[in-house]
Amino acid sequence: MQFGVAVLPGDGVGPEVISEAIKVLEAVGGKFGHSFKLDYGLVGGVAIDKEGTALPQDTLNMCRRSDAVLLGAVGGPKWDDPQAEVRPEDGLLGLRKSLGLFANLRPVKVYPPLVDNTNFKPAVIEGVDFIFVRELTGGLYFGRPKRQWRTTRGRRAVDSMSYSEQEIERIVRVGFEIARSRRKKLISVDKANVLQASRLWRQVAVEVSAEYPDVELEHMLVDACSMRIIQNPRYLDVLVTENTFGDILTDEASMLAGSMGMLPSASLDGVPQEGANIFGMYEPIHGSAPRRAGQDMANPIATIMSMAMMLRYSFGLAKEAQMVEAAVEAVLNEGYRTYDIMDEGKTKVGTREMGDLIAGKVGG
Ligand code: IPM
Ligand code: MG
Repeated sequence: MQFGVAVLPGDGVGPEVISEAIKVLEAVGGKFGHSFKLDYGLVGGVAIDKEGTALPQDTLNMCRRSDAVLLGAVGGPKWDDPQAEVRPEDGLLGLRKSLGLFANLRPVKVYPPLVDNTNFKPAVIEGVDFIFVRELTGGLYFGRPKRQWRTTRGRRAVDSMSYSEQEIERIVRVGFEIARSRRKKLISVDKANVLQASRLWRQVAVEVSAEYPDVELEHMLVDACSMRIIQNPRYLDVLVTENTFGDILTDEASMLAGSMGMLPSASLDGVPQEGANIFGMYEPIHGSAPRRAGQDMANPIATIMSMAMMLRYSFGLAKEAQMVEAAVEAVLNEGYRTYDIMDEGKTKVGTREMGDLIAGKVGG
């Protein structure tokens, strides 16, 4: 079978980690006889430099024609002026919104070989395996009004956390579906003691829960959740939350896994289902790490694992996805580490060598 992938390397370390994910994707293709048709496009700072916009129409059209999108990272100091008219991040946010990718899945998994590698006590993080379902096209990121202006008493700015019940319902449903396939426990994270949008969120979550009597629903305030993530992360299984809350909590949670360079993500336009192919965009949760760019340093694992999620959700290739995940674990077990997860007695490798090792396991 042939699958069409829109590849958007973006800025900073984006192109480097994408190359490794493609290397592994090609190893999967060779091994299992699939062919992947790759189309490359511009997004973010590189698109601003070449086309004057962070999300050129050509790129968007190409993504719409594809079966899935694989993205590196966007942003960098070059485009960081707060006064700038166009920002690389607009490219990413524009893609998420235009492609209707409202469901952002961010699994947080602690690999046994990295248990001694984090700032946490092994006893706290051993066996951690949970998943965030972050709402991605609404909330504080997209609510209107959103602007900055001058008043007679100085400057003011506003962002709005706004949700319709439909937007909440569809994301909460994704949470319930995923919870149903796991420990049957869903935590809905909000700030209902203060925010109206969160009170609606909580009401809708309770309403939808009537359709999922087999899943236990728990509400957790976002501040308490941020504590729980580091206090007792094994308690967590599936969490569903607002866009900004999810952004913040997933960076925090990535530390359990040892590095941001370990966490993949999938952004989907519907409920993921075994066997069904759903459109999605796949990217590491880390950013463009401009200081590491061009040095063959960045950890490509988050992008490779994102590519594995693409195999699973958009192409229905669960076996192939598992093979990639097992290859990553095997390479970590053999002691290979990029700088961000390096530890005494381990073998330090660069971006390319890490990609070669993983691709070698898949193809071998
Ligand atoms: C993420 C990133 C993005 C976000 C940025 C780059 C706009 O932090 O995917 O978590 O805030 O969503
Ligand atoms: Mg983020």
